[in-house]
Amino acid sequence: MRRKLIAGNWKMNGLLADGIALAAAVAELAKPRKHKCDILICPPFTLLIEAVRAVAGTPIAVGGQDCHMKASGAHTGDVSAPMLADLGCRYVILGHSERRADHKEPDSLIKTKAQAALAASLIPIVCVGETEAERDSGRTLEVVAGQLKGSLPEGGTAERVVIAYEPVWAIGTGRTPTLAEVQEVHAMIRRESGLGQGVRILYGGSMKPSNAQELLALPDVDGGLIGGASLKADDFWAIATACP
Ligand code: PGA
Repeated sequence: MRRKLIAGNWKMNGLLADGIALAAAVAELAKPRKHKCDILICPPFTLLIEAVRAVAGTPIAVGGQDCHMKASGAHTGDVSAPMLADLGCRYVILGHSERRADHKEPDSLIKTKAQAALAASLIPIVCVGETEAERDSGRTLEVVAGQLKGSLPEGGTAERVVIAYEPVWAIGTGRTPTLAEVQEVHAMIRRESGLGQGVRILYGGSMKPSNAQELLALPDVDGGLIGGASLKADDFWAIATACP
């Protein structure tokens, strides 16, 4: 039985006061209850330590949005996986389409970063997803399978790796694939990942309170990677509580 994971990707949002308030609000919502799913927030680097403090004593985990492939050294501006683990992070998002686009990150680099994450005892959330042109030309399954093959770490297991399927054209646009399309890609990812039945595969791209329930009910959707809707504690919480 795969336990669902609801992960908030705050992206480059939140000054100190706002970020602390958001983490505290999510922590407050999480406090009194037992949860049907695992809950994770991934604030920007500048807010991580405050987020770890804010959620202390709750079941909420904290993760980074990227890490370097090396543990330390002359890499100005970068943050390593052991640094994230040292702060109390348990996860790190890797290969998000915005990093693939903004920083030209290839699959091979994402794989090396994912291996660095594993070495630091972090769970990498490896992101894959097709562009609109790739979907329109009928290449979705082929593109996503290729990204998976190139980006998944060696030595990963179903317990220590999470995959996120995020169609690029669905991110921040309010558009989503049909439920059948999401299920088709997730089922393929599970088959092709080599990680077995137990690997958790999150859907990301315009997941919100109004569509979370139907997406999270799909047999191969094991949670969500939530961008915009994770910046409002109530919306994020509504998605977390939509887990079947
Ligand atoms: P969105 O972003 O929920 O705002 O579409 C998801 C993501 O990029 O992880």
